[in-house]
Amino acid sequence: MKNNFYAELLKFLGNVPLRFKIMGMVIFTAFLISTISIIQVYKTTEEQASSYLREISRSTANEMANLSEDYLLTNDIYKLDRIFQETVRLRPNLRYLFVVDKSGDVTASSFSKGFPEELLKVNRNVKKTKIDLIRTDEGKMLDAAAPIMHGDLGIIHAGVSFAKSTSNINKLIKSLIVTLLIITAVGVVLSLLLTYIITEPLKYLLDATKAIGKGNYAIKTLKSANDEIGELILAFNDMAHRLTKSEKERSERENQRKMLLKKIIDAQENERKRVARDLHDKVAQTLASLMIEFKIIENSKTINPANLTKKIKELRSTITQELDSLHTLCSDLRPSVIDDLGFVPAIEMFRDEFVKRYKIDCDLKINGDIDSHLDKTAKIAVYRIIQEALINVARHSSADKVNLTLSYCRNLLKCTIQDNGKGFDLSKKQDLTGIYGMRERAEMLNGRLSLHSEAGKGTTVLFEIPLKDIPPLWNSTKQSEIKK
Ligand SMILES: Nc1ncnc2c1ncn2[C@@H]1O[C@H](COP(=O)(O)OP(=O)(O)OP(=O)(O)O)[C@@H](O)[C@H]1O
Ligand SMILES: [Mg+2]
Repeated sequence: MKNNFYAELLKFLGNVPLRFKIMGMVIFTAFLISTISIIQVYKTTEEQASSYLREISRSTANEMANLSEDYLLTNDIYKLDRIFQETVRLRPNLRYLFVVDKSGDVTASSFSKGFPEELLKVNRNVKKTKIDLIRTDEGKMLDAAAPIMHGDLGIIHAGVSFAKSTSNINKLIKSLIVTLLIITAVGVVLSLLLTYIITEPLKYLLDATKAIGKGNYAIKTLKSANDEIGELILAFNDMAHRLTKSEKERSERENQRKMLLKKIIDAQENERKRVARDLHDKVAQTLASLMIEFKIIENSKTINPANLTKKIKELRSTITQELDSLHTLCSDLRPSVIDDLGFVPAIEMFRDEFVKRYKIDCDLKINGDIDSHLDKTAKIAVYRIIQEALINVARHSSADKVNLTLSYCRNLLKCTIQDNGKGFDLSKKQDLTGIYGMRERAEMLNGRLSLHSEAGKGTTVLFEIPLKDIPPLWNSTKQSEIKK
């Protein structure tokens, strides 16, 4: 039950906006401090006033008892009455003085008109000075009674009123309340200001966070101070900046992927067209002409054996040529030599064909047992990267020499393709589909690829691929290497 109440209270407080929480705390604290201070001040001043008045009543009763002796002995009651009246008039808290004789009659008193009989009931037959608190229609009073000449001449009563001191205390409390109200009001204004200073930047931060949540990364929050909130805003801006950067990188990368995909699809289409054209233009036509040739031979009844042998030789040579071109077509489409002979011989064959076709010297160095550490997918990928890099050298570099180095060491395959061509400025190139394709293939194998080129200083393509049980080298969102 109790726990439930606290849980509900905490839930309710949790739903209250921050600014109201701070305000509420300030107002509650000011109210508590004010109330406790007022009660404390009231109690202390009242106690002090009460003991002060007791002292006054006691000393007045004793003093007036001494003074009254002579007048009572000489029976100068008229004079004593006058002295009593004058004393009551001059002393601010003193309300009355009167003497009661042994038989209970009032001998002398400060009351000029009508003596209040109920005062006779207070402090009767006292042997020494005694004080009683009494309530009259004028409010609280202290009645101090002192015997005159050991009581032989009667008892003198001095009445001291609380009225003046109560009104003074009330005045003090009122001014205290006003002061505390002013302090509370100032506190509330200051807390409003403080709440504004604290919550305003938080509101901006909240808006900015919501905006980022909706994908608006360009949002910025102004730093308002050098305190913790200022630090928070700085950290937030930094985070927004990083998010913007990584979002930009992500979208750039996405575009590149799309371009690459389009390029791959286009290349596939072109390849199919080329294969279809090659098959149609070369193989189909050759086969058709072979058909005709065979028909002619079949129909000719007069052909002599020598001519027949010559014709068959010609036809065999045509078929051999056609088989060669079919073989080239197939190995362009899929380097079956990798499956047949292995990766290293396939690379060597490609190097030989490259040198023959493009007349560029290619120095190939292979270190380590690469073949047995690369799986089928990795072999094709590495082959294609080298193929693209070498074809780039042939098409764009005007180089006359290229060094191709492949090495396998400590589970890492490293490859460098370095030409002595004209080089280029990577940042000025728009369409880098071939280069991105190489990089994609390397990343697919958890590796990384970088390209270093400078106008006039040749180009170097370098890639590394981890083989077996070593962690990826390349974070797929990172592009700085290729951008260098
Ligand atoms: N070895 C190199 N020497 C000089 N320039 C190069 C070299 N490699 C690449 N380049 C430059 O970089 C550009 C981009 O190369 P990339 O391979 O991405 O595209 P491409 O070869 O033009 O077309 P493809 O998509 O058919 O490969 C090239 O157009 C060329 O200007
Ligand atoms: Mg290319």
